[in-house]
Amino acid sequence: MQAIRVHEGEELRYETVPDPEPGTGEALVELKAAGLNRRDLLVRTGTYPFPLPLVPGSDGAGVRRDTGEEVVIYCGLNWGDREDAPGPNFGILGGPRDGTYAELIALPAENLFPKPASFTWTEAAAFPLAALTAYRGLFTRAGLQAGETVLVLGAGSGVSTFVVQLAAQAGARVLVTSSSDEKIERAKALGADGGVNYATTEDWPAVAQELGPIDVVLDSVGSTWQQSLDAVRPGGRVVVFGGTGGTEVTLNVRPFYFRQQSLYGTQLGSPRDFEGLLRMLEESTWRPVIDSVRPLAEAEAALDRMVEGEHFGKLVLEIG
Ligand SMILES: NC(=O)c1ccc[n+]([C@@H]2O[C@H](COP(=O)([O-])OP(=O)(O)OC[C@H]3O[C@@H](n4cnc5c(N)ncnc54)[C@H](OP(=O)(O)O)[C@@H]3O)[C@@H](O)[C@H]2O)c1
Repeated sequence: MQAIRVHEGEELRYETVPDPEPGTGEALVELKAAGLNRRDLLVRTGTYPFPLPLVPGSDGAGVRRDTGEEVVIYCGLNWGDREDAPGPNFGILGGPRDGTYAELIALPAENLFPKPASFTWTEAAAFPLAALTAYRGLFTRAGLQAGETVLVLGAGSGVSTFVVQLAAQAGARVLVTSSSDEKIERAKALGADGGVNYATTEDWPAVAQELGPIDVVLDSVGSTWQQSLDAVRPGGRVVVFGGTGGTEVTLNVRPFYFRQQSLYGTQLGSPRDFEGLLRMLEESTWRPVIDSVRPLAEAEAALDRMVEGEHFGKLVLEIG
């Protein structure tokens, strides 16, 4: 089969590799599309130091070869029995196990779910990791309720587009931050009520507070924890799941406990979360936001666009 593999020195090669062999309880999927995530960049740069060469990619949709079913992939591996956190053997597809930047993938059958009927192949490959992260962060972790206000940092991020759409579908009021006024406008078209440009507004938490009160903040930037806690109301919740802006912070502890706030970490989601997400998608009228689609062979150009931060929504690779 043809696949994109990461080699030493951050090199990406489009090359012929042996077809994967399904093990016991596994099935082979002929992939139609693969979605990109920031994780793929971290795999490429060695920030996640997996053995190489490796096929990156956590998201994909395609046809199950043994049954002919149209499937979408749940990319969590060995989540475990608990719902509040994954077990010690938890992993994500696309490192160390070969991922979806390929024509074929062998996976445990339990990782394969019916493709949402109304989604195209590119839409189906775009949503799993990002929408699942958004779903768990909003509902399983923060317990977001209809009528509450949620602030999403970095409207352009792939995950953020799903946060906006899922929160709006659940009846919440949505606010965003972005470095781009244009992206704020695009987030409004997805269901956001307003936003603040964090690049041009010196004290953006104060401006966001004026648009609030904010019950929940979704923070994938990392370096912004203090600002997120400043922006959220007393008693509010901040959900953190990324470090796009940096992975170390200094926090002012007293206001945090005086104001009785909560800080939740989250990663991906359990198979039960994924089922809940699929149920929400069945009832939704919105579609995943696709920034751009390229052929598999042009994965490098797609990853470069992600590095530049020019995108809005998901980058997808078409396969076959
Ligand atoms: N824990 C998990 O399970 C999980 C799952 C998925 C993703 N993540 C993490 O979540 C983050 C987003 O992932 P993604 O795939 O959606 O990435 P992405 O599409 O590449 O999003 C990048 C966006 O982050 C925003 N950003 C960067 N610096 C910022 C800052 N200082 N303040 C506010 N926003 C800033 C920018 O938004 P604007 O262009 O609007 O300014 C940028 O476009 C990454 O850190 C990723 O590793 C974690």
